[in-house]
Amino acid sequence: MCGITGIVTKNRDDIGALLVMCSRKLTYRGYDSVGVAAVKDGVVDLRKDVGTIDEVDKMLGLSKMRGDRGIAQLRWATYGAPTKVNAQPHFGCTPDFYGAHNGNIHNYAEYRQELIETGHIVRSENDGELCVHAVDKYYEETGDMFEAVRLSTRDLKGAFAFSVGRADEEKIYAVKMGSSLVAGVAKDATIVSSDLPSILPLTNNVVYLRDREMVELTAERVRVFRIEDGKELDREPEISNVDPHAAEKGGYHHFMLKEINEQPKVAQDVMGVLEGSRSEDWLKMIEDSGRKFLVACGSSYNAGIVGTYYFNRLAGTPLVPVIGGQFIPMYGKSLADDSLCILVSQSGETKDIMNVLNLVKETGKGKTLGVVNVIGSTLMFGADAYIPMACGYEVSVPATKTYFSQTIIFAYLAARLGERNGTIDPSEAKEFIRSLAEDLPRLTQQTIDRTGILTKSLAQTLIDVKDLYCLGYGFTDGVAREGALKIKEICYNHCEGMYSSEFKHGPLSIVTDNYPVIFVTTREDSWMVINHINEVRARHGRTIVVGEYEESLSHYVDREGDFLTIPESDILLNPLLDVIPLQMLSYYLSVDLGINPDLPRNLSKTLTVD
Ligand code: F6R
Repeated sequence: MCGITGIVTKNRDDIGALLVMCSRKLTYRGYDSVGVAAVKDGVVDLRKDVGTIDEVDKMLGLSKMRGDRGIAQLRWATYGAPTKVNAQPHFGCTPDFYGAHNGNIHNYAEYRQELIETGHIVRSENDGELCVHAVDKYYEETGDMFEAVRLSTRDLKGAFAFSVGRADEEKIYAVKMGSSLVAGVAKDATIVSSDLPSILPLTNNVVYLRDREMVELTAERVRVFRIEDGKELDREPEISNVDPHAAEKGGYHHFMLKEINEQPKVAQDVMGVLEGSRSEDWLKMIEDSGRKFLVACGSSYNAGIVGTYYFNRLAGTPLVPVIGGQFIPMYGKSLADDSLCILVSQSGETKDIMNVLNLVKETGKGKTLGVVNVIGSTLMFGADAYIPMACGYEVSVPATKTYFSQTIIFAYLAARLGERNGTIDPSEAKEFIRSLAEDLPRLTQQTIDRTGILTKSLAQTLIDVKDLYCLGYGFTDGVAREGALKIKEICYNHCEGMYSSEFKHGPLSIVTDNYPVIFVTTREDSWMVINHINEVRARHGRTIVVGEYEESLSHYVDREGDFLTIPESDILLNPLLDVIPLQMLSYYLSVDLGINPDLPRNLSKTLTVD
């Protein structure tokens, strides 16, 4: 949520163009409002308004702003409505101080009041403004910008990062206090940002930061300090091998479609990681643990549900899937020394997951194994060990390829554990792992190819539908939830994902003539799913089926296009492939409804708030 970018250049005057170019790459973090503070000859020009970066740039000429340094911010509204006054960056009491934040300041109400009572002119209802005032306040006391920034963090409670500058200083500062922050050193500029994509247009020379660290940017260098005592840390830049063009659409209309189409390669890449030498450590960590929790949110949680079925089926090993925010009230006190929390997060920054990571660290009870996509994220650095999803950048707000990668990771680990503990026959395990490595990429491509046109025309028949269900059974439980989440998220339809045998325990009453219910199945469970389909058909509902082609299933759809078939495959690959038609259906429905699936309203890709 929210993206900040700060840049200091050497002998350049095009700071507006640089900030717009780099910040555009953070659009997935927030698109409620945008602002740029540009400093030229010691004077700060601050322009901001409601809208996307392209809209506000057009309106206010952000990319034409002159200066050699500045800060930009893209906002996802939490504290204060998405209005011009709440847009960031903000000034302090005077235009001498300018800055912007991402994250949340939890003591917002009390601190805002305290600042007002001590004479600060607070103009907005946005918590980011308080960061600038906190620096302003400590500058009054110390007359030293470095100290003011460092001490300001004592007043501010929450998980956040901010970047701040003073008009008369040719430096920019930034702090990392629980939200992501990375820096970079280019030939003629330095940069600090909420995330790597906005650094890469300038440089691949990256400085990764840890929590409770701050940076000082001059045109030549990035210096890193510990916030606690101001001690300088020895942190050299590292070369990032992330492809700077990964965050481009590459000929597709939307990132979402591009990312769906990248899934065959993701299957290949993640299997490469899993077949590497580090797997032994991950497997051992799982084997040596007692109770195992799988903690995740949204799509990552849905993938975790699929994983839970694989772990049971292939390894006889129970995983307890828990929604991130529920973990502490539900299981926090149940952690034991040998517990394992498998923390699954694409961004590696989701606050609900960070809370669990911090709990395990603080109590010392158990270990954490991260499953994470963003390299350099807080989860990657904080977990005892981490498995990379190997997806490259996922730019579109709806998760697709990262969900896919997560399910492959769980399937693979379960097969390896089962092979080792004897739950499955070693030859069965080997064959499944072979099919993951060799067949899955090809079958994924085939599924994309065969369902493209089908889902496009199916979407047209659903254009007026506002309410539907997506049901799964056994292995496809998590898949159906994921399909429903995609439809909700990017089509703004109410679509509930649930277990198909539960449907008769209440929700079935919603079915009337032509009410649509999507059933997702594997070959193994279709006999049971047919029972549930019949319950809907008997009430004249419309059934749409996703799964391998089976004659018996084909009788339960009214039109051929209502059966989205995946290619014939190993039964254990069915749950992995079944999600693809659902991703594509939601994509085409979203586009038909005139929605931009990459940037659904009210959402942000990285949720660093509680
Ligand atoms: C849905 C989606 C979200 C995320 C959720 C968790 O398409 O993208 O539901 O899955 O916000 O995010 P991470 O995996 O970054 O923790």
